[in-house]
Amino acid sequence: SKGNHRHYMLKEIYEQPVVVAQTLRSYLRRMEDQVSLPIPDFDLGSIRRVTIVACGTSYYAGMVAKYWFEQFARVPVDIDVASEFRYRAPVMEEGGLMIVISQSGETADTLAALRHARAEGQKIAAVVNVPTSTMAREADLLLPTNAGPEIGVASTKAFTCQLAVLAAFAANLARAKGRLDAKAEKELVRHLSEAPAALNGALAYDESIEGMAHLIAGARDVLYLGRGPDYPLALEGALKLKEISYIHAEGYAAGEMKHGPIALIDDKVPVIVLAPSGPLFEKTVSNMQEVQARGGKVVLISDYDGVQAAGEGCMATITMPKVHPLIAPMVYAVPVQLLAYHVAVAKGTDVDQPRNLAKSVTVE
Ligand code: M6R
Repeated sequence: SKGNHRHYMLKEIYEQPVVVAQTLRSYLRRMEDQVSLPIPDFDLGSIRRVTIVACGTSYYAGMVAKYWFEQFARVPVDIDVASEFRYRAPVMEEGGLMIVISQSGETADTLAALRHARAEGQKIAAVVNVPTSTMAREADLLLPTNAGPEIGVASTKAFTCQLAVLAAFAANLARAKGRLDAKAEKELVRHLSEAPAALNGALAYDESIEGMAHLIAGARDVLYLGRGPDYPLALEGALKLKEISYIHAEGYAAGEMKHGPIALIDDKVPVIVLAPSGPLFEKTVSNMQEVQARGGKVVLISDYDGVQAAGEGCMATITMPKVHPLIAPMVYAVPVQLLAYHVAVAKGTDVDQPRNLAKSVTVE
């Protein structure tokens, strides 16, 4: 049931601190300061290359994970949407692991990619939310997200749980590759363990996000910008808004703005900038200022320090808890979900059953 919530989507957004904690429990050994896998003896050391395939929101989780696999494990990562991967001629070498990511575990394009890769001799890991699904059954390594049933067509809690699993998996791979010493592992475990509390902190901003929904609800087009692991969050924010409010939205890598899309900027196109404090903050802010210099109206999503440093001149700001860059993509998912939700409610659309969309896409 929806409990006290008006829509399943809102209920599922609010479940995130609990289900992410629940998911992490299978991947972290808090007492030992170690990450672990549900199948501890799976041979990760021989993996030389990772190919990530998924659709929609699950694909964006995979895009975030690419940064982690490369940064922590130094393993090369290919990523593609399933419908493209299956029908090109991808090169799959020995020692390759395919990771499929899917809430339902039934998405036809992703399943076809899985079967194709298996036939080419790849090992298969599946990050899925339905443990009885076809992908779960066909994988060599099942990496469950424990988000519980997701009813809203717009994926929310499955996404943050996918990120939690993928971060832990990247750390496991890094250790197997001799790239993560005990001290660094302890640090990673500590940061990941802080995610549920940080998600709670993000939810506390719900009311003020609701209060700014009218700033977006009247727009025809909206842009989302982010850098590094927060770039896929910009794509995810745009997808959420499109799906449930029917407002045209695009996500861009912040640095790409000046290569074209900046031509769209005027005071009628709100620009949502995702810029947590961290090594990429200054760069993203300078892209944001390029937008502002052309009359663009910015909503800055950052932490207290970021909002202090760059919030002046923005149409609105959203203050997130200050978190380690590793968990920022999880935490920043919350405001983009809430913003899409409240804009859709303001427009009076059917949030849980948006037009033309199905929860599970089982035809190619
Ligand atoms: O069940 P899956 O994770 O494989 O589904 C993939 C996409 O169809 C799904 O994420 C879709 O994009 C959602 N409606 C996004 O909110």
